[in-house]
Amino acid sequence: MNTAEDLYNKYVIKNHLLCYPADWYIQKDTFHAVKDSIQPIVNFYEDSGTKERKDTPLDEIIQEPLKDVYTVPFFSQKFCNILLDEMKSLERHFGFKPNPEEDNLRQIPEITFQDNCPQIFQSLMQTIYTIGNPIFLNIWNRHVDSGGIQIANYNLKDKRQGAWHHDASADISMVVPLNTGDYQGGGTEFLKRGTVEPLPTGHALIFPSFTHMHRGLAVESGDRYLLVFWLKCNEE
Ligand SMILES: [Fe+2]
Repeated sequence: MNTAEDLYNKYVIKNHLLCYPADWYIQKDTFHAVKDSIQPIVNFYEDSGTKERKDTPLDEIIQEPLKDVYTVPFFSQKFCNILLDEMKSLERHFGFKPNPEEDNLRQIPEITFQDNCPQIFQSLMQTIYTIGNPIFLNIWNRHVDSGGIQIANYNLKDKRQGAWHHDASADISMVVPLNTGDYQGGGTEFLKRGTVEPLPTGHALIFPSFTHMHRGLAVESGDRYLLVFWLKCNEE
């Protein structure tokens, strides 16, 4: 049974649209490209690599700015605005906290969804299964079945720049900026690969967690909010 204190501390979701994954979450062209790519992706997967994969509409919209670093328009502007608004009320309720399991150099102020807001976590994971997995299958013939999701906040005061690191607890990392244009600086640098400038709001940066050491670049002003997915491929 919940104690009075638990009930007091429980976060109440402001916008319930965030609990029901729907088409409008996803950038329109990507939504249609996923739908039209599923059949050739599934055929290739089921042929166990014995036949060539046919070109897919997703091939047209997934970009590779650095070696094995991919970008794709993912969430719609409308979804990002609503999530950012919810995030401000999550911030008022919980505050951004560094993860105590990470060492000091790698700690970024963050709010994790799986612990603090399981309904939004479920809804975001659902989106990963329906939209993210076809994209990961299109890139690597891999798909994910679990993971963690958080919002990280880079700013001048708390944490301007990340230290070099691997996303140790993941197989596939996906990072989505929620408020590009509201801050200066930022971007992501990959060791020996190069730098990706801040992507437009809602666009996903996707890379393998094991091989790609990276760091967030310094924010010159403002708050840079990133939706970060650390995803696991357990069952193949
Ligand atoms: Fe990272």
